[in-house]
Parts: sequence; structure tokens; C-alpha cells
Amino acid sequence: MRLKKLEKRNLDTTNRKGSMTLSERDQKHLWHPLTQHKLHSKHLAVTAAKGVWLYDEEGNSYIDGIASWYTCMYGHCNEYITQKITAQLFKLDQVVFSGFTHEPAVKMSEKLMAILPVNQQKIFFSDNGSTSVDIAVKMALQYHFNQGEKRLKIIALEHAFHGDTFGAMSVSGLSVYNGPFEDFLLNVDRIAVPNQDNFEAVKRKFTSFVSSGEVAAFIFEPLVQGAAAMKMYDAKLLDELIGIAKQHHVLAIADEVMTGFGKTGKYFASDYLQNLPDIMCLSKSLTGGVVPMALTTCTQKIYDAFLADDIGKGFFHGHTYSANPLGCTAVSAGIDLLVSDEIQQNIQRISKQHQLFEAKIKQHPKVKATRQLGVIVALDLAIEMDRYGALRDQLFSFFMENGVCLRPLGNTIYILPPFVISDVDLQKIYSTIEKALSLL
Ligand SMILES: Cc1ncc(COP(=O)(O)O)c(C=O)c1O
Repeated sequence: MRLKKLEKRNLDTTNRKGSMTLSERDQKHLWHPLTQHKLHSKHLAVTAAKGVWLYDEEGNSYIDGIASWYTCMYGHCNEYITQKITAQLFKLDQVVFSGFTHEPAVKMSEKLMAILPVNQQKIFFSDNGSTSVDIAVKMALQYHFNQGEKRLKIIALEHAFHGDTFGAMSVSGLSVYNGPFEDFLLNVDRIAVPNQDNFEAVKRKFTSFVSSGEVAAFIFEPLVQGAAAMKMYDAKLLDELIGIAKQHHVLAIADEVMTGFGKTGKYFASDYLQNLPDIMCLSKSLTGGVVPMALTTCTQKIYDAFLADDIGKGFFHGHTYSANPLGCTAVSAGIDLLVSDEIQQNIQRISKQHQLFEAKIKQHPKVKATRQLGVIVALDLAIEMDRYGALRDQLFSFFMENGVCLRPLGNTIYILPPFVISDVDLQKIYSTIEKALSLL
């Protein structure tokens, strides 16, 4: 394979003063996420970012084709969000959210309610996608517990990814992420991701699980399983499963940590459903990628099940930085941008460009399958590759050498760019992928 012969970018060059580079200094004390440091010890030092561009310490630039794990959807260092946060920083930085409230939280709740599915009424704060899922699972379990029902099981989809805390690991498909902790995980029944071929069998299995009376909740990434390599499935099939769950008082939890805020072409992937989720998990582009924050939202009915004279029926979960005013301000600013004509038109434009690219690339002999929804487009190569194998690493290096930041998931190459990407930069991503395919 000719990719192997390509010269690798030297990511750890010394800077002009002759002192150690950031990449070298990094190696002394820092432990990176999802990394086997024996195999991958060097990390590219990014010193600045603007719009769709990342800049490294050598002055190289890269188009951020995955919006930094789907967070910076309005572009890096977005001026509107930055100005709002800066103003807030001089007013109120942080205050305990237990017993106190503040304008950024209230304002954010009002803006969010205007775009969430209509049945969502209450908002609970945390700091990242995983905690939003843990909270959703705990909420569902205690919802039944508070009503005197012992429902000890959760249903999840195979190959799901919901995060790395224990509740989130429990409902994720088994992998290198959660394998070592298998003995400590919650009680989860798994069903295959539904498709036209397996649906009757999936429905049978699902119905038998939910009719046992033991299941508290059904959790899913609606329409797109991000970490499973942007695998997409039909809203109608999911809708039917949620409908069955509801008949058996099983709560539906939509993990929209990845899909939320416009990526699927609608505000939320759940907007494609008739049967709305009871609980939703939101994070990543919630704050436009500026500060970490997550939300778990739920219906009035769920909230009401925690109201009682008995203090023990309350939801005793809390994080120190809950509703941090800077985070709330970023959420409000992000929503202002999301609902703007400019961003909505961009979403349509990117989606159309992706469709043209998909129609072309699916003919390529090295491409086995393609899929697209909103600003997400993915292609599977007709080549077997380990998720963290050498060939995948070579592809990643090739993209970086060509000024495009894409992180293949095994043999899947996907693009999920910031909404502000221009057609020219999109074409650059597409042509770089085509160039990579010609070298395979
Ligand atoms: C659908 C989904 N849920 C949860 C998470 C976990 O989010 P975080 O990494 O912020 O903990 C992710 C992360 O990729 C995700 O894609």
C-alpha cells in the first residue's frame, strides 16, 4: 500500500529558540484520553484556532473536519459566544446552584425550552456527556423506585457509546473502553440496532424484555451511533420501539450528546420521532465547544415523581460546577446562533454538498458503503482495518499532512464539520479523502 511510503510529519520539532516544544514537554506529565501511550506518545500541540482552522506550534494549519469531536459547531473562538462569555465573566463567575439561581441559568432554560421537543420541561445540569447519561439512568431508576417499583434493568442498543463513567459504560456496547470493568456494570439487556431485515426479531426480543416489568428505561443514540462509526438507522423503527416501551411504562432516554443542536438537519434527532423521549442527554456543542457543560432534561411527569414531603424522594445528585454562569451564557449564545437564518442555511448547504460528495464517492471501488444525514457524512472502506490499527493511523497522518483533521474510526472515514465551513474548505476535505483513496 503506497500510503505506507509517505513521509510522516514530524510532530515534535524543536522550536526556534532551541528549547523543548510543547509536544515534548507534554510527554513529561500528561496522560491523554483514549490513548495507549506506549504506541502513541507524541501529541500535536495546537496553539490557536479560529473558525474551521486549527494552528499548530509550527504554524501549520488544519481544517477541523470533525469540529473537535462535534463541539465547535459555530466555529472555533466564535466572536459572538466569546463576547457574551467575556461580559458575563465580569458580572458573575460562579455560584453554588443548590439554594441559589442566576440570570444565565434562567435565560438559558427559556431559550432551550423553545427548541427542545415539546414534552421536555425540566433541566438538570452536569459537566460532560457521560455524566448527563449517568444522571439520566439514575433519574429513570429512581423514578420507578419512588413509585414503589423495583425495575432493575436498562435496555441499550448493541455497539452503543454513551460515555466512560460507570452508568454510561454500563449502557455502552462492550469494547476496549469498558471491558476491564464488565464485572462492575449495571444490569443491561442489549438489542441489535434495528434495520429492515432484523426488525421483526428485534421487536420480539425488545417486547419480551419490556413486558417483564423489570426494565426501567430504554436508552439509545437516536438515528446516528457516533462512536460506532456514524452508523445510521431508521427513525420509524426507533419510533416503533419507543412506542412499545411506553406501553410498558419503560422510560425512553435519547442520548443526543452527539446528535443534538442541528447536526442531523433538525435541532435534535428526536425531532424525527413521533414518540418523544422522556429524558434527553445533551452536551458537546451545547456550549459551542467553548466550555464543558451537560444537561439532562425530562418531562414534567418524571420531575413530579421526585416531589414529596419525604426528603429522600428528591434527586440527591449534584456537581460543584452545576449551572456555571459562563457555561449557561455559552449555551444561550449557541442557541441564538443555531436558530439564526445564517446557520440554518449553512446546515442545508453543507447537507447538499455532502449529498453530492456521497453520490460520487459511493461509486469508488475502494468504498463499500456510504451514509449521510444533515452535516454528517461517512464512508466505509472496502478494506478491513482495526479500530486502532496501523493502517488507520496512516490514514489519519495522511489527512493531517494534507491539512485536514479527520479521525477515521477503523475503516470508516467521516466528516462532521463546523456549520461555518465554506464550500471551498468542504471541497478541500472531499478532495483529500479522494486523494487518500487513490493511494490505498
Ligand atoms: C452519544 C454520546 N454520549 C455520550 C458521550 C460522552 O460524552 P463525554 O465525552 O463528554 O463524556 C459521547 C462522546 O463521544 C457520545 O458520543
